[in-house]
Amino acid sequence: MINLRLLVSKIWDRDRTWGAKWKVLTSLIRRKVKNLKRLRIMKKPSTPSFVGWGMTSTHALPWDIESSTDKIGLKFLETENRLLKRLSNGEFVTPSENAFQRMGGWRWRHYFLYWSATLATRFTKSSQCNFLEAGVWEGMTVYFAASALKEETGLTRNYRLFLYDAWDSMKSEYLTTKESRAIGNYSYLSLDRTKANLKEFKEHCEFVKGYIPEIFSQNPAPSELSWLHIDLNSSMPTRKTLEECVPKLLSGGVVVFDDYGWRGFDETKKVADEYFSSKDGILMPLPTGQAIFFKR
Ligand SMILES: C[S@@+](CC[C@H](N)C(=O)[O-])C[C@H]1O[C@@H](n2cnc3c(N)ncnc32)[C@H](O)[C@@H]1O
Repeated sequence: MINLRLLVSKIWDRDRTWGAKWKVLTSLIRRKVKNLKRLRIMKKPSTPSFVGWGMTSTHALPWDIESSTDKIGLKFLETENRLLKRLSNGEFVTPSENAFQRMGGWRWRHYFLYWSATLATRFTKSSQCNFLEAGVWEGMTVYFAASALKEETGLTRNYRLFLYDAWDSMKSEYLTTKESRAIGNYSYLSLDRTKANLKEFKEHCEFVKGYIPEIFSQNPAPSELSWLHIDLNSSMPTRKTLEECVPKLLSGGVVVFDDYGWRGFDETKKVADEYFSSKDGILMPLPTGQAIFFKR
């Protein structure tokens, strides 16, 4: 909007010649036109297609029902819809607040898990496909991996899920000084609730309750693994899990870290970087804070 009074006051000056007044007027008009042009060429910011888990993006989404041709993305969407249905009808229970509403913001994280599980199932050769998760919580992340595994193996290959968790409070002896803020976390967990949440995969699950690393001496990881997910929020148990499991990882298998790039988990990142520096494979950090190691 042009404020006429202001404009006139800027031009009108008794002592100015008519020529000088004209000059001021034309320079004001030129400035106004330039501003308008600049406004017109500035693009409107695009609406983000995704916001959540520490990221904002305007890019195409592999699970977009309208436009995606990505088969893995669309299968992932079916899985997420199934889980949402279970959350809403009480078949999947978690005390985590608003899990149903927050699911959309977790999508890239869960999609990478689904995708990594698909890749590991397709790229490893074994009569039985074994997945191991260290840090199961209520079973949410493994729900996605197990769904991909079931989808991929179909009736042609047997599969098993080895699920390790304390299902109890985090303890100081497993935490560094920096991580000690986590002492007492997860005291609310219940193995029975996790079992009920994963009942769809019941006959394929082996629940191993206990603290890592001690639990590995009574319950070692299986001799062959295709997929390993580590989400322990602690660096020493992460290192021990790598030492126990990675020698058993088949060629074409993957290790997924949940906490790799998250602020406050730099000790876990250091463990992963050091451990994989001498291993045959490649570690890819992801924008979600996860990282995937691909074994050659
Ligand atoms: C962040 S939660 C895992 C979340 C889960 N992956 C998900 O999103 O569905 C971390 C889990 O690690 C478990 N945990 C932490 N330290 C552990 C240890 N030393 N041994 C066994 N479990 C542990 C906790 O009980 C908790 O369930």
